[in-house]
Amino acid sequence: MERTLSIVKPDGVQKHLIGEVIKRFEDDGLKVVGLKMISMDKKEAEGFYSVHRGKPFYESLTTFMSSGPVVVMALEGEGAISKTRELMGATDHKQAKEGTLRRQYATNIERNVVHGSDALETAAFEIKYFFNSLEMFEY
Ligand code: CDP
Ligand code: MG
Repeated sequence: MERTLSIVKPDGVQKHLIGEVIKRFEDDGLKVVGLKMISMDKKEAEGFYSVHRGKPFYESLTTFMSSGPVVVMALEGEGAISKTRELMGATDHKQAKEGTLRRQYATNIERNVVHGSDALETAAFEIKYFFNSLEMFEY
């Protein structure tokens, strides 16, 4: 069964969207197998987004991601990675499909409410970044 990592970003938490994001995922058949609220420092955000190091948006993105609490979750289900990304919508909320989380709730391309892993390898890296084996569940 496929697993992915999602984050309700600081803007999503500020907008009281934690429940809404989880509900979208659960309603689409995804199972929450790990869940917690954390606050990343700048270094932790930089490590999480290290694939984007050097890109023009990296500095601002990692400052934003360490600006307040976030909710990280591991999700399990058939096609969990693509399902999650479908529900999120495109990175740029203006390009995102009607009804997607980012289309409905994003402020701009950076403050786009939610993160989702983009491939099997990144999902494995990202889940491990936040959860140890005692914090992951099978049920
Ligand atoms: O999150 P997603 O996989 O859709 O996009 P990404 O290309 O992996 O970029 C990671 C995050 O960086 C995005 O979700 C945005 O928050 C931010 N970003 C940005 O601020 N400006 C861009 N031009 C591209 C991404
Ligand atoms: Mg990405």
